[in-house]
Amino acid sequence: MCGIVGYVGKREVAPLLVEGLRRLEYRGYDSAGIAVLNENGLQSCKKMGRIDALAAELKKTKLKGHAGISHTRWATHGEPSDLNAHPHMDQSGRIAVVHNGVIENFQKLKEKLEKEGHVFTSQTDTEVLAHWIGVKYQKAMKSTNNGRLPIVSAVEEALRDVVGTYGIAVICADFPDVVVGARRGSPLVIGVGKGENFLASDVSAMIAQTRDVIYLKDYELAVLKPGGFDVYSMTSQQPTVQVSRVEWSADAAEKGDFPHFMLKEIFEQPQTIQNAVRGRINHEECTAVLGGLNLSATQLRAVDRIILMACGTSWHAALVGEYLFEELAGIPTEVEYASEFRYRNAPIEKNTIVFAITQSGETADTLAALRESKRKGHTTLAICNVVGSTIAREADGGVYLHAGPEIGVASTKAFISQITALVLLALYMGRLRSLSAALGKKIIEELELIPSKIEKILSQSGEINKIAFKYKASKDFLFLGRQSNFPIALEGALKLKEISYVHAEGYPAAEMKHGPIALIDKDTPTVIVAPRGNIYDKLMSNLEEVKARKGPVIAVATEGDEAIAKKADDVIYVPSTLEQLQPLLTIIPLQLFAYHFAVALGCDVDKPRNLAKSVTVE
Ligand code: M6R
Repeated sequence: MCGIVGYVGKREVAPLLVEGLRRLEYRGYDSAGIAVLNENGLQSCKKMGRIDALAAELKKTKLKGHAGISHTRWATHGEPSDLNAHPHMDQSGRIAVVHNGVIENFQKLKEKLEKEGHVFTSQTDTEVLAHWIGVKYQKAMKSTNNGRLPIVSAVEEALRDVVGTYGIAVICADFPDVVVGARRGSPLVIGVGKGENFLASDVSAMIAQTRDVIYLKDYELAVLKPGGFDVYSMTSQQPTVQVSRVEWSADAAEKGDFPHFMLKEIFEQPQTIQNAVRGRINHEECTAVLGGLNLSATQLRAVDRIILMACGTSWHAALVGEYLFEELAGIPTEVEYASEFRYRNAPIEKNTIVFAITQSGETADTLAALRESKRKGHTTLAICNVVGSTIAREADGGVYLHAGPEIGVASTKAFISQITALVLLALYMGRLRSLSAALGKKIIEELELIPSKIEKILSQSGEINKIAFKYKASKDFLFLGRQSNFPIALEGALKLKEISYVHAEGYPAAEMKHGPIALIDKDTPTVIVAPRGNIYDKLMSNLEEVKARKGPVIAVATEGDEAIAKKADDVIYVPSTLEQLQPLLTIIPLQLFAYHFAVALGCDVDKPRNLAKSVTVE
């Protein structure tokens, strides 16, 4: 949800900023811009469209300088346009601001400023913030500011009046080697270099330059200069500045030989499962080892209820988790949309653990729901991919996914890693209760076989491509599954709609006859997730019901199931595994189907319209 990059040092700033923006383009891509400081003061260049459009414009304007800020936008206030693109200037034109988040009281501030004669050129909340900082700067110029630079005091003072969320970077023509950053609710990371420093919404923007980073916390303000940086707290708390070393390399955030990040990430899944499992199995005791939970065995045995909160794809992983916790650990489990939970007065009894499941660790609704649970005194744990993210930091403990950077807006490898983490958690909590060593052993053995089984499914990508091509004229799809494959049907439908813009609905197969069956006709294909298992026969009846209404059927079935091939129009086979682990396999053909379908339609798979990778606004 908007990406920010800032730099101060000795190198030419524009190419560095553009490279950083390219790596953040997944966060938003409707317009982009940069502002640099040089002997002429402050100069900027903004362009509607992708980073390429900005890069082309920069070739003409040739902005020079050694300090600057930049932004790639996902519109919240004001349509995508050159004028609404960031950076925005204050009234004097000497201060530039880029912003990720929403200034909720911008209208009130704007009216005040307009009365004082301020003129705005955009419809954005950010331009109002820039002007507000400008006003505070005029005052700070006349004050001692406790020894701080006036632009630093101005930013701090202006933010005190702001209601909403922000990750911002600010430059001022009067301080040609200073970049100021501040955050509340939107991520901001300092990249520590030698004789240079970086500021960005996320590590991937600067990983090619430095792997030493500082994750800023809410209400922290950073002042970057070429030779160093300072971090201040805007509250009475002392900032704790900790430099972390990023484990993954710049290559992990590159497409390599793949045409799209999404395809690369689908193909990385055997590896990401191994990464999620590595070092977390105790074979002798047939259980998992999860040190990051920060809860003793006694505390975990006392848990009476689990709540899983998440959004989007992570919510689908939570639904799989509900089956796992109830079946393997016997713990009553509920799944909540974080966006709903945050505003409900849901009674949570004692001995409830609340899990926030999130790839980014920055999703605004999930973060708010986590905070609400904490406020009510509950133990909160995170299942999260991004190390150092807000949710990872604010939870009482949790499990990291170790999936590496996920750049494709459509989540794939994070989903599979989330389910893997949930399997490990359910196994661990189950073994502290009544799960037998024999079943624990079987789960571990099967889990360790999953990566090679996924490889086998991935090798069918070519055939899945042909099937997707065959259905490319279809405008509506129904996805059906039962038990833990019901969330897979939901996820398959979400993948298809978010990257190809066709209508797709996921449903529990048996619910179809209560309404969605009305949709079925010869032009509405049904994707049915029907691996062998205890309700296989029931699923076959659901399949027959679709065929009886002339609906085309694409089945995901277990290898060796020849019977289904006689009924379905197309079949994609997955190897057999324990029923509890089936979602780890059945999702793969659906991801590939969605991918190939979107490519066949000519859609921009990695940057689907209207979406952003990390939704840091409400
Ligand atoms: O980072 P999170 O896991 O919290 O993100 C949640 C959703 O925004 C995300 O899963 C979204 O639904 C994806 N675009 C799905 O592919």
